[in-house]
Amino acid sequence: MPGGRLGSGRVFNLSRRNFADAPARRIVRIMRLRDMRELVRLRPIDLDATRRRLAGCHDVSDLRRAARKRIPRPVFDYVDGGADEEVAMAANVAAFRAWRFQPRVLADVAAADASAPLFGATLPAPLVLAPTGYTMMMHPHGEAGVARAAARRGLPYTLSTMSTTGIEDVAAAVAGADATLWFQLYILRDRARQSGLVDRAAEAGFSALVVTVDTVVSGNRVRDARNGLTMPPSLTPGTVASVAARPGYWLRLLSGPPVGFANFPDEKQSTISASAMFFNPGIDWQDITELRKRWNGTLILKGPIGPADARRAVDAGVDAIQLSNHGGRQLDRCVAPADLIAPVREAVGPSVPLLVDSGIRHGADIAVALALGADAAAIGRAYMYGLMAGGEAGVDHALSILTREFRTTMRLLGVTSVADLRKRGSELITR
Ligand SMILES: Cc1cc2nc3c(=O)[nH]c(=O)nc-3n(C[C@H](O)[C@H](O)[C@H](O)COP(=O)(O)O)c2cc1C
Repeated sequence: MPGGRLGSGRVFNLSRRNFADAPARRIVRIMRLRDMRELVRLRPIDLDATRRRLAGCHDVSDLRRAARKRIPRPVFDYVDGGADEEVAMAANVAAFRAWRFQPRVLADVAAADASAPLFGATLPAPLVLAPTGYTMMMHPHGEAGVARAAARRGLPYTLSTMSTTGIEDVAAAVAGADATLWFQLYILRDRARQSGLVDRAAEAGFSALVVTVDTVVSGNRVRDARNGLTMPPSLTPGTVASVAARPGYWLRLLSGPPVGFANFPDEKQSTISASAMFFNPGIDWQDITELRKRWNGTLILKGPIGPADARRAVDAGVDAIQLSNHGGRQLDRCVAPADLIAPVREAVGPSVPLLVDSGIRHGADIAVALALGADAAAIGRAYMYGLMAGGEAGVDHALSILTREFRTTMRLLGVTSVADLRKRGSELITR
């Protein structure tokens, strides 16, 4: 018979029969309010809607679902979608999940430590925020909010060339917070503008230059074309329905600061694909050599870089490689960066820092990346879902979820440090 002894010492009886037969008065007598309070622990209701929403998000897919409910379809699709048939985008995620863990048991993981060395510093976790353009289109907190959330967690944030917040404004947003800022560069047709951006980033204290080499032309984003997406989003007959469905988004957008390309102030509005006119299809290795001469900080090459190109990059003076296929947003059917980690590690040797992005949705993906030979993982959509779901607090939540998942995975794997995970990587994962 289900029942028990409450703190008051009185015995109660919860058999179905008792409840079904007893009139309400008797139930109240059987279970006094005090007893019920002990049984059902009432949680205070949080009056903050954002906090409430985020509290219901327990992993990155929850954040994605929450984002989808709040953001107009064209904007959500811009983040969520990839190039052409989205084969690469799906394969990126699958490539991390194709691995199975073979944990070590009885390994005393009481003192497990997720901190990771990168470029002479120690990160609390091997996690970096990859560059994402047009960020204020997703939420008015924009790049400044993402940079603040990253700084709060001690993680590097990469500001995009296509940002909606200026270089100096992002630096000001995290001033005094001991933030690590990197600047992502598209090699531009307009060389003077490009040099200006690089010099301003150095001046503003950005410590790494991440040169993206997979965007010589814009990827074919079919969802954006279908949705007629412009930057900033405009009210066309096609978007009117989404306005009606997501009034909160439009209210935030219209009451926030104007959204535009911070580094291209002369461009008032553009379709996303038209912004590709800034990119330069004529780039080659000479551009990297010249950037190496201009940039004194850490130089990172970002793209789907194979073993031979990785060796060449190191010879050209590049400090680190960020294996990426732009989250499947550029060349569809491009090899998954997860599958490049081991061959590129073998090609460049143990001392060249390797980062990987594209497909990281869970802390376990970060563990796989490190076990395969990466030094750190970078995320794009994972934090953008957080931003769309709850602004800066949503980014914070995404970072908290991923780092917690990574720590738990480490412990369950039986490793106590990132160095241990990387050293024993080949014993810990299998396919
Ligand atoms: C909305 C969005 C905008 C992006 N903008 C840029 C950009 O401006 N420059 C760049 O190098 N990469 C950009 N990326 C690619 C990311 O830096 C990163 O490579 C990618 O998001 C990683 O894949 P994931 O989203 O599966 O984590 C963008 C990605 C997204 C989702």
